[in-house]
Amino acid sequence: MAESLFIPSTTSRQEIYDSLVPQIKALTDGESDLTANLANISAALKEAFGFFWVGFYLKKENQLVLGPFQGPIACTRINFNKGVCGHCYMTKEVVIVPDVEAFPGHIACSSASKSEIVLPAFDKNGEVFLILDVDSDQLNDFSKVDAEGLMKVIRIVEGLV
Ligand code: SME
Repeated sequence: MAESLFIPSTTSRQEIYDSLVPQIKALTDGESDLTANLANISAALKEAFGFFWVGFYLKKENQLVLGPFQGPIACTRINFNKGVCGHCYMTKEVVIVPDVEAFPGHIACSSASKSEIVLPAFDKNGEVFLILDVDSDQLNDFSKVDAEGLMKVIRIVEGLV
């Protein structure tokens, strides 16, 4: 396993995703422990983009439960019908929220969080088994570039189970 990431010195998120995704694949290849892999993936995303908060919520029984993450402490349990994460879980779709205050039911783990993107990961039965949540302290910080780049990360995560 590589000991450090190579992050291109550019402000282009597209270029950073293009460089980072194969490194995340290499980082997780050959490691069977899901927690260890999710921990390194959240660290890699934090290091590459400096996101305010990035991490995973795992479906456990009838809730989403906080998993490996990077950033300030966060709420530990989210009901399926609550927040952006619950909305992503229920709709099984990528959710981009340009302004969290305009999203009904948004769960404010931190008042500094202004926009977010949440993506679902599917198990082999087509059920959502975790979600990836990325928060920014800037309004309108996520675009199609993030949705596509992070979906490649999700495909790697799906290959881990
Ligand atoms: N904002 C999320 C909750 C998780 S934290 O932001 C880390 C939501 O509304 O579901």
